[in-house]
Amino acid sequence: MTGAVCPGSFDPVTVGHLDVITRAAAQFDEIVVTVMINKNKRGLFSVDERIELLGESTSQLGNVRIASWQGLLVDYARELGFTAIVKGLRGAIDFDYELQMAQMNRKLTGVDTLFFPANPAHSFLSSSLVKEVATYGGDVEDMVPPAVHAKLLARIAERNAEA
Ligand code: PNS
Repeated sequence: MTGAVCPGSFDPVTVGHLDVITRAAAQFDEIVVTVMINKNKRGLFSVDERIELLGESTSQLGNVRIASWQGLLVDYARELGFTAIVKGLRGAIDFDYELQMAQMNRKLTGVDTLFFPANPAHSFLSSSLVKEVATYGGDVEDMVPPAVHAKLLARIAERNAEA
């Protein structure tokens, strides 16, 4: 039985994330997509909402489940009994940052990181940019899973009304 943890902020999940999750699910018996809780960062969506959006977006993948974790990622991988982390890589900036984390995670516990090169059609995509573009009325419909789009627009409208 092989398993890997696929961590991130997922605020919200994009089609780029979904592509990596789908490809990882084809390589492992089980993928646990994990929303990493960062108490210092207020998201657009709560952790519970992100979990729900991930669940709706991956419901067609039978070997994927969604979780959250606060603390070191490697501790969660160890708790799951997994020896692998999977991540997507969009380009050189991701690589520099991800390489350092991968090396640290391996030093801490021996858990290794496997990288999936982003689909070039998604290499410009990030949750942050999607939120920014949507905030100013840009079209992001094909950048997020269908389950996310309406909720993203509704949340941004709420935020804009507050401001
Ligand atoms: O989607 P993101 O924000 O790029 O994800 C980064 C994340 C949350 C996966 C990374 O910051 C992380 O693993 N945080 C958990 C805390 C931890 O283990 N830090 C040490 C990393 S070497």
